[in-house]
Amino acid sequence: MEHMRFDLGSTEQIPPGQGRCFKIGALDVAVFRGRDGRLFAIENRCPHRGGPLAEGIIGATQVVCPLHGHKFDLTTGQGSEARECVKTFEVSQENENIVIGLALTLKDRRAYENCQSGTP
Ligand code: FES
Repeated sequence: MEHMRFDLGSTEQIPPGQGRCFKIGALDVAVFRGRDGRLFAIENRCPHRGGPLAEGIIGATQVVCPLHGHKFDLTTGQGSEARECVKTFEVSQENENIVIGLALTLKDRRAYENCQSGTP
């Protein structure tokens, strides 16, 4: 699968400990900047009822949905509730900018589809 990279601009757009939504084509990506400077990127739509995850409160490696409090691991996308998970995206900091990679590997796709169907 083709690997696409998108430069989203300076990391300074996101205060430490917060998130922000970026539109990449039809995709809404929530990018978080941890208090330790780590970056995380997941899809912005909560699988429960579509809450904007970029507006959630983040802990070390999880975000709490602002609507009903379901939690999602920022490194794996796994949710706190059964059959709820979100896609994660490759994100890095290059020359002080946020760079997102959007290709899904076969393993990532299977993990996501298994979560959606409830298969461990
Ligand atoms: S919409 Fe996210 S927990 Fe309900």
